[in-house]
Amino acid sequence: MDKLSILANGPLEGRIPISGAKNSALKLMAASLLCEEPLVLTSTPNLADTRFMEKLLQSLGVVVEWPKGEALCRMHAENISSTIAPYDLVRKMRATFNVLGPLLARVGHATVSLPGGCAIGARPVDLHLKAFEAMGADIVIEEGYVKAAALRGLKGAHIVFPFVSVGATEHAMLAAVLADGETILENAACEPEIGDLAICLNACGAKVSGYGTPTIRIQGVAKLTGARHDVISDRIEAGTFAIAAAATGGNVLLEGAREEDLGALIDCLLRAGVTVEVEPKGLRIKRDPSVPLKAVDVVTAPHPGFPTDLQAQFMALMCIADGTSTIRENIFENRFMHAPELSRLGANIQVRANEAVVRGVSRLKGAQVMATDLRASVSLVIAALVAEGETVVNRIYHLDRGFERLEEKLGRCGAKITRQGDSA
Ligand code: UD1
Repeated sequence: MDKLSILANGPLEGRIPISGAKNSALKLMAASLLCEEPLVLTSTPNLADTRFMEKLLQSLGVVVEWPKGEALCRMHAENISSTIAPYDLVRKMRATFNVLGPLLARVGHATVSLPGGCAIGARPVDLHLKAFEAMGADIVIEEGYVKAAALRGLKGAHIVFPFVSVGATEHAMLAAVLADGETILENAACEPEIGDLAICLNACGAKVSGYGTPTIRIQGVAKLTGARHDVISDRIEAGTFAIAAAATGGNVLLEGAREEDLGALIDCLLRAGVTVEVEPKGLRIKRDPSVPLKAVDVVTAPHPGFPTDLQAQFMALMCIADGTSTIRENIFENRFMHAPELSRLGANIQVRANEAVVRGVSRLKGAQVMATDLRASVSLVIAALVAEGETVVNRIYHLDRGFERLEEKLGRCGAKITRQGDSA
């Protein structure tokens, strides 16, 4: 299994191009099932997860043209030949569950494996299913599969989510665009990826308004055509590299990073003593390494709050800050698995329930650590960039699920990272 060897090598300096957002691309790819004409995505990130979604779409009959290493992905769902997403394809990556809504809306039925939990928590899909039921679908769960049918089509509905769910908001949108009549989603998620999905669906002929606010209105249409859409830049990748630049006391331009998507992180970085400048090409992050970082408290929350997907990385930064910070995880119940691994590098972290108290230390020291999930893995990379000596991050397949060319991007800014193992 692949691992990364990382040697601290001083401040990161240079430019990092930010890729298209994984979390957006996966839902946009699912949206291709709704379109009778080709959906062409530019800035599609080449990742294990997006390639996995490609395989699932192909198994459903979508013709996908996406040469290896290219960012342009063309998907044509002229004929849907299967409406079954089997366990083996869904269990490996949760976002594949999002083909259920589009299949239901376009074909009238679908059988999709329940995604199951994952390392960061139980992650149920009850809100997704309730939304489809509200739109008139019959749902049965049998032998681990969701069997959904709406043979006379979906009907617009008024859906009030009891709490904010990004996945359920996106999934309800993916079904409602082809429903008969208007759907109103209240307490909808406001994440930038929701806006990206709405813009793409509208380019295909859908009528979605109110995205970016808690009330989204969708006027159903009879069919969607196709479109060419540029995937929004990955705010989590940008935030991760911003934190890495801050940790090393570097000076990095994040090309394509959008200030408006990263407000909560930028606020925390500024309070920690990091400089963030908006430039025409993106965001510049810099910090004077001779001035210690200040400890900052963080609470994760739905957008525009601090993203759960940056919690682990920010914890790594706080490990070397001057003072004590408290990090509260409000989205997932088990998302501190990076804490014991960071402690192996010399961090001082105490976890109690959903709160971690991080007492900054003057130095971290390299060690063997284990990646447990995608964002946790990259928090270990950040810590390794400032830890004395060599750190070996094991089980990095998680990183390949969500970070495009990570070693290359960091390496060009001076990081000493080498991959060891089968695909090195
Ligand atoms: C969540 C994050 C998203 C992040 C992604 C991957 C939030 C609000 N969402 O999105 O930013 O990119 O993880 O790390 O920050 N839930 C239910 N029933 C459901 C759906 C969700 O109980 O049917 C719960 C989840 O278990 C979780 C919360 O609602 O505690 C928010 O989940 P949701 O936003 O749906 O998760 P993701 O879409 O995976």
